[in-house]
Amino acid sequence: MKAKISVVSFLLLCTFLISQAQVKSIVGANKPINPYQYQIVKTDTFQKASVVSAHPLASLVGAQIMKMGGNAFDAAIATQFALAVVYPAAGNIGGGGFLLGRKKNGELVGIDFRETAPGKAYKDMYVDSNGKAQTSLSQNGHLAAGVPGTVAGAFATLPYAKLSMAQLIQPAIDLAENGFVITQKEVGGLNSHQKSFKQYNTTAIAFIKNTPWKVGDTLVQKDLAATLKRIRDVGQKGFYEGKTAELIVAEMQRGKGIISLEDLKNYQAKKRTPLMFNYKNHQIIGFPPPSSGGILLLQMMKMIENKNIAALGFQTAASVQLMVEAERRAYADRAQHMGDPDFWKVPVQQMINDTYLAERMNDFTPGKASTSIAVKAGNIKESEQTTHLSVMDAQGNMVSVTTTLNGGYGSKTVVGGAGFLLNNEMDDFSIKAGVPNMFGAVGGDANAIQPNKRMLSSMCPVVVLKNKKPYVVIGTPGGTTIPTSVYQGLVNMIDFGLTPDEAINKPKFHHQWMPDEVYVEKTYPQEIRKQLQAMGYKIVERNSIGRTEVIQITKDGKLNAAADRRGDDSAAGF
Ligand code: DON
Repeated sequence: MKAKISVVSFLLLCTFLISQAQVKSIVGANKPINPYQYQIVKTDTFQKASVVSAHPLASLVGAQIMKMGGNAFDAAIATQFALAVVYPAAGNIGGGGFLLGRKKNGELVGIDFRETAPGKAYKDMYVDSNGKAQTSLSQNGHLAAGVPGTVAGAFATLPYAKLSMAQLIQPAIDLAENGFVITQKEVGGLNSHQKSFKQYNTTAIAFIKNTPWKVGDTLVQKDLAATLKRIRDVGQKGFYEGKTAELIVAEMQRGKGIISLEDLKNYQAKKRTPLMFNYKNHQIIGFPPPSSGGILLLQMMKMIENKNIAALGFQTAASVQLMVEAERRAYADRAQHMGDPDFWKVPVQQMINDTYLAERMNDFTPGKASTSIAVKAGNIKESEQTTHLSVMDAQGNMVSVTTTLNGGYGSKTVVGGAGFLLNNEMDDFSIKAGVPNMFGAVGGDANAIQPNKRMLSSMCPVVVLKNKKPYVVIGTPGGTTIPTSVYQGLVNMIDFGLTPDEAINKPKFHHQWMPDEVYVEKTYPQEIRKQLQAMGYKIVERNSIGRTEVIQITKDGKLNAAADRRGDDSAAGF
């Protein structure tokens, strides 16, 4: 018996030592990834595997993990943790998101790690005694935070990966512990948020600095490194229980937040069945509710499928008008019918029905704007900060992950002593019927606040097959503009034959039913704007729309990767 125990202990010790030995650091001055010297790569072609994400260091981490024998799921986990360190505006462990994957054997994977409303949340929690909606509370500070889902999402992804969590999280730990040099864009983000960071924090945090941040500064996040180590050493409970959970609840108590130990302990990522549809000879796979992204994309693409948009031409008033009218009709359904399917019966089958979608376009008149007063949600009788990463590996696995804190730097509140920002995702609920959220989206009962409910999202991670073979991985941040950005990216590639780089970087437009306006990026051609105005559209110029990351497989099997030029987004691979 004694001998048996000592053999078992010896084997356990060996396993422990082997796993420790495997966790060699890949990040450092003389390591494969140098956090003090790196470059942004906007587009490249790789032979085997690629990651495109919002930050070069995170993309390099994902690619290196695949070089070390990991698959696309490993890369997605490691990239996501790295983003939580190097891209604090949106990368996170204090937020949530959706992972959509397709394994090389064709199996589809949908992991929902969307935040939930805390147990003490209630429908009118942001409505004051005069009946006025207090968006300042749903958008900033402690009360804006939903129960974070990202860490549970990583552990729900782990069974599809090949390496250990210790290996996948170590690059993020090294980046947090020893720091990395920040880019011009990060300098801008950190400097412009100093006032909010001071206003919404109760402890000293790594992002606050007495003199302005400048390019070349090193951002070190010791508290975050300690939290990541607890996740490495204790697993999911290293975040949802024990010291990290206690730090979250202590932070809540200092700032009148309501997330409890019980909320954290009970949080669960959920498996969802992805939504698949055909568009011409492509199979497009999107995320179902609680994201509106997959349904919106399906509706918009199906509404234009039989209209020969290629003949109308890329970036012509006629093709933009057709796409805008499909957007209007799809977003009207979003406002009325979509919410967390575990709390609200979302009429998915009716909304994606071919006859229903054809009828929705019956009143479309080429050359004349419809109005959002006339176009209501379909009559169905039943009751700016997020980030995306796209991965393909050498075996043919495809992974598309969109994750969010909601606004830039989320609630602006860092959990004292734990070093990570909390989301402000509660604002994605309809906090009062008809009151627009920070993206102008309106909603009603389907998306009203209830304890433990997931707030409706627009995130739209997508993988695409062409003639049933892996073809494209795509996704983007951008609030309500997410599904329309993905829609434009796909139509640009499939119908207009643009390269991935062109497809995502050409100026974009967006309509979301309410308000009844067509948003265009600053660089959108004036001539098209004028022609649309003549048709009756109100054109509103706005800041950049989305930051799309795409990987497309070429005819000869290479990976054509393109990172959005609107940010620090960068491609890596081999
Ligand atoms: O889930 C959603 O729809 C939003 N929280 C996404 C926010 C976002 O994309 C902000 N990025 N620019």
